[in-house]
Amino acid sequence: MTKLTPAQWVQDELLAGRHLRPQVEQTTAYAPANIALSKYWGKREASYNLPVTGSLSVSLDDHGTHTQLCVIDAPEHQVYLNGEQLAPDSGFAAKLATWLGLFTPADVKLRIDTRNSIPTAAGLASSASGFGAMSLACNALFGWQLDYTSLSALARLGSGSASRSLWHGFVKWQAGEASNGHDSVAYVLPERWPQLRVGILTVSSASKAVSSREGMGRTVNTSKLYEQWPAQANADLATIEQAIMAGDFTRMGETAEHNAMSMHATMVAAWPPLVYWQPESVAAMQKVWQLRKEGVEVYLTMDAGPNLKLLFEAHNEAKVQATFPQVDVIRPFTSQVHE
Ligand code: DP6
Repeated sequence: MTKLTPAQWVQDELLAGRHLRPQVEQTTAYAPANIALSKYWGKREASYNLPVTGSLSVSLDDHGTHTQLCVIDAPEHQVYLNGEQLAPDSGFAAKLATWLGLFTPADVKLRIDTRNSIPTAAGLASSASGFGAMSLACNALFGWQLDYTSLSALARLGSGSASRSLWHGFVKWQAGEASNGHDSVAYVLPERWPQLRVGILTVSSASKAVSSREGMGRTVNTSKLYEQWPAQANADLATIEQAIMAGDFTRMGETAEHNAMSMHATMVAAWPPLVYWQPESVAAMQKVWQLRKEGVEVYLTMDAGPNLKLLFEAHNEAKVQATFPQVDVIRPFTSQVHE
């Protein structure tokens, strides 16, 4: 059997007979950003964004993306990010147009108004919440009534980490085995952790030189150290899931930090080397390790950028804030947005 292209798969299998034209004029949707505790780093297949391993994240509550879609009579889609129109060939606008092209007929054009409640400078994976919100908004605009599992596969085709951005709380993206990715979808874990805090520490707003997409491709292709990554990532994922079930913060935090540092080690060993850290990132890491020495249990994780995400529990919030006055503290399980 010949392999389906992503567009054929979306139209023939995922949407299977559902509308390919908007059923209403306008819709809105919200999706939270997410931080991976066990990372997605490397694809086994690029056109479907299929990962080498599974990953596990925590969603960031009211830090995410609000998207409004309107059907327009125009030659091209129009993409606005935080109120400003993006050039059609700019990164996010071009990615959105490619993704919409998977299922929209050429004469259907949309105005996409996307607003991030995450400081853009924080370099948080806004493409994750962006494609999460787009998938939800399209589900309403086209009247598909797809379940969240199917929407997770659709969001993944925009950006891998977006497969995890449809839910609040802890979310696991299973790698899957199928060549069309129908089983490479995320689901929410039942566990809640009201005491958990995620601190966003923006240490540098230096713009990202190399995207996650390019960075992971380069790492897979050129880094010798990547050979050991899948085994560690799978083991870390299992450990973190067990730690969440057991409510074991130490085990969860240590494994998440070790996972992130190991991912960065694979990047440093790529060629040309990929070093996302700035001097301020390293200084902040040292403060985190100093805090731990003083008995304040705080761990760090980092993605493809210079900023840190801190993991700690409610009883240490004041101490973390005293050390990092600029930290933005998120309570993933206590806000009203998803009650
Ligand atoms: C380091 O999901 O942005 O944040 O699938 O190519 O769009 P594409 O990549 P993306 O990669 C995210 C990588 C990461 C780790 C993670 O979020 O799991």
